[in-house]
Amino acid sequence: MEKIRHIAIIMDGNGRWAKSQNKMRTFGHLKGTDNVRNIAIAANDQGVEVLTLYAFSTENWKRPKDEVSYLMKLPALFFNKFMTELMEKNIRIMMMGEMDQIPKETAQVLIKAMDQTKNNTGMILNFAMNYGSRREMILAINHVLKDVKEGKIETVDEERFEQYLMTSKFPPLDLLIRTSGEYRISNFLLWQLAYAELMFVDLPWPEFDEQQFLKCLENFYKRNRRFGGI
Ligand code: FPP
Repeated sequence: MEKIRHIAIIMDGNGRWAKSQNKMRTFGHLKGTDNVRNIAIAANDQGVEVLTLYAFSTENWKRPKDEVSYLMKLPALFFNKFMTELMEKNIRIMMMGEMDQIPKETAQVLIKAMDQTKNNTGMILNFAMNYGSRREMILAINHVLKDVKEGKIETVDEERFEQYLMTSKFPPLDLLIRTSGEYRISNFLLWQLAYAELMFVDLPWPEFDEQQFLKCLENFYKRNRRFGGI
């Protein structure tokens, strides 16, 4: 089995976890943010090249205003608390999603973190913020149409199309993990999931610890990936 290179996680269940503790939903998101640190360090230690985390979807704007504004504060919280450690671990921050609709202060925090870590050569910790896979594909198609119109290209094949996606610089997706016992993809990486392994874990994200993560890796290496062959 080839070494795992790119893992994506749908970090679900913060709200339900908080409720189970008789706490506000925001407390769950706060715990979830601490857990991003734990899993990022664990993935980096395992030599994972890219960890893509679904931090905020194009659909999450539908949540109550207060919750949206709290979620938008998480990047600042995360980098204030963990930037020193991320630098020590040589982790590089990236993001994918449409930056222009994100509040200015949040966008600035993300840009600063990307800039600060741009020369780091360890794992890429890639936050999907204001990301939706259908939107990503529509943007890609419009970009293709523009390039055709300008005479830059005539047609696209799979490889060329991938160059227009937000993951174009990353290795192919190997594994998707979703926590909290929901069995959905929720508009995440639809194209990239074509041959990824899927894992659904029953624990809410704040309880998905390093040990659980290592179990997922162990499970991954036991699987027989055939990519349509035999
Ligand atoms: C889903 O749980 C979780 C989110 C929508 C937010 C996830 C974000 C983080 C864990 C932190 C992100 C960190 C940074 C640095 C950007 P839910 O609220 O849908 O839980 P529920 O299904 O139980 O309601």
